[in-house]
Amino acid sequence: MFAASLIALSLVTFLPLSNAYLINTDGLNCRSGPGTGYSVVKTYNTGDDVSITCQAPGDDVNGDSLWDETSDGCYVTDYYVSTGTSGYVTGECGGGGGGGNLPGLDDTQSSHAQAIIAEAEKENLGHQGCLAGIATALTESSILVYANEAVPESLNYPYDAVGSDHDSIGIFQQRAMYYPDISADMDPAGSAAQFFAKMQAVSGWQTMDVGELCQTVQGSAYPDRYNENLSAAEAICSAASD
Ligand SMILES: *[C@@H]1O[C@H](CO)[C@@H](O)[C@H](O)[C@H]1NC(C)=O
Repeated sequence: MFAASLIALSLVTFLPLSNAYLINTDGLNCRSGPGTGYSVVKTYNTGDDVSITCQAPGDDVNGDSLWDETSDGCYVTDYYVSTGTSGYVTGECGGGGGGGNLPGLDDTQSSHAQAIIAEAEKENLGHQGCLAGIATALTESSILVYANEAVPESLNYPYDAVGSDHDSIGIFQQRAMYYPDISADMDPAGSAAQFFAKMQAVSGWQTMDVGELCQTVQGSAYPDRYNENLSAAEAICSAASD
């Protein structure tokens, strides 16, 4: 579909994703908060399109305890919204101290960034780990999952855009020849885990210049490219740790 050529670290192709989802039941109450005890603001019916501004944990409905805030400003149980997953498809409400998205990021980027940050937290990598992961993801892909026609298997996984830089795929543009687990490369959390595993093997990573650290992990020739996204990464990591 795209014939653009990508040079390393620069991005020219982008498939915008809609965040509109279909309601799959009639008379679905949209409430003032993420639970069945909150007042009903309006109702939706099967086939209504809603866009999700953010998501929040709340009352369990049929095994799904996630609630989606719609652009109407009220919450519906995620169980009756066809998002294709019972997990998050966008940022958590209040996470960024506002609309729910992290600063400067749209819903898609924000939800991927949350996956990277969760991985850094799981590994106890602190602020330095968050900065390195987010700065790298911003520089490599603007935090979008890239498939690549040179790696046909990558097209079998969910993606946001299609690139053509060597055999680089996913948010971190990990090269399939070095990172042969395509399902991990194409998964926000999985690719972050691979990035962080390699990062922790870099001696002195805790105190190293962030751009140099990203460059060392990525094997890129351009440490400055990562530092160009450092202030954006600062804003995102700070908002996420609020
Ligand atoms: C990341 O850096 C590039 C290159 O300087 C810039 O074009 C882009 O806007 C930056 N992204 C963010 C989110 O600051």
